[in-house]
Amino acid sequence: MRFEQRDVGEPGPGEVRLRHVAVGLNFADTYFRSGIYPVPLPSLIGNEASGVVEAVGPGVAGVAVGDRVTYTGFTNTLGAYSAERILAADVLIKLPDAIGSEQAAAMTMRGLSAAYLCRKIYPFRAGEAVLLHAAAGGVGLIVSQWAKLLGLTVIGTVSTEAKADVARANGCDHVINYSHEDVAQRVREITSGSGVSVVFDSVGKATFESSLNSLKRRGLLVCVGTASGKVPPFDPAILARKGSVYVTRPGLADYIADPLEKQELVDELFGHVASGRIRIEINQRYALEDAIQAHRDLEGRKTTGSSIFVV
Ligand SMILES: NC(=O)c1ccc[n+]([C@@H]2O[C@H](COP(=O)([O-])OP(=O)(O)OC[C@H]3O[C@@H](n4cnc5c(N)ncnc54)[C@H](OP(=O)(O)O)[C@@H]3O)[C@@H](O)[C@H]2O)c1
Repeated sequence: MRFEQRDVGEPGPGEVRLRHVAVGLNFADTYFRSGIYPVPLPSLIGNEASGVVEAVGPGVAGVAVGDRVTYTGFTNTLGAYSAERILAADVLIKLPDAIGSEQAAAMTMRGLSAAYLCRKIYPFRAGEAVLLHAAAGGVGLIVSQWAKLLGLTVIGTVSTEAKADVARANGCDHVINYSHEDVAQRVREITSGSGVSVVFDSVGKATFESSLNSLKRRGLLVCVGTASGKVPPFDPAILARKGSVYVTRPGLADYIADPLEKQELVDELFGHVASGRIRIEINQRYALEDAIQAHRDLEGRKTTGSSIFVV
């Protein structure tokens, strides 16, 4: 990555010029950088930021100069690592007064992901158990708090004792240190042998096998991400052998493509955060010029909770 000065120009039809206040640092950014998510190079990077609308192009409705906004996306929003940018107006989410700009940059991607994982993927009933990998991470801390709101028993995994404390403080009922504990065995102990209804697995290659082994009969493995590398190809027959379990690999983009569905998730997330039911832990703040170090910290497992760039 290289930091450059550029003139961003004026917004065209359907676009706005946005001055960023804070920018989200997400694990997905490392996939775009490394090529796990291929894009034509050279490319801008970053998919989440909050800021203020500075100018609007022809035909823009719904947002005006001076509005506080946030956004997240996929290839359509690349370029969030910037102080100022041009962006399609239709991706913007207006910020209510109760939501701060740094908070927004720390939770638009991570919080909306937590929202669809907790509310759209599976019809959770209070009392069910879930296994959440990387529980002290950005998505992890929000999912664990949300899962507690749903009345679930939350079993989180982490790599260090310090992260175990963070996970417990954010809703995990049980924490497994997957650096030295056998995850599936511990899950069976905790659930009296039955296993969990759902596994949220953002770690991928290193945890896939133990995730399958932690599920109850006909449970669901949600492959959320691949922080440790891609899951190797597998024979579907293994799913029958593990108890007729299900595997899915969802992406946020497909849960916010419909504007009404997106607004529903936004309203629920902002409601929980504004009321204090869900806290957004911003545990790392960087300058944009320090993006390389920020990626090293995130990939080096040095961070907990959300990380942002303050512009
Ligand atoms: N599918 C979707 O819609 C969607 C949307 C948003 C995010 N995600 C995914 O959710 C995951 C979490 O994203 P995030 O931005 O909140 O990141 P994060 O969880 O804050 O950071 C990644 C964490 O993964 C764990 N990890 C395990 N093995 C690792 C390895 N070999 N290298 C690096 N980290 C490893 C580390 O926690 P420990 O040290 O405790 O192991 C690390 O802190 C990512 O996989 C991301 O791609 C998916």
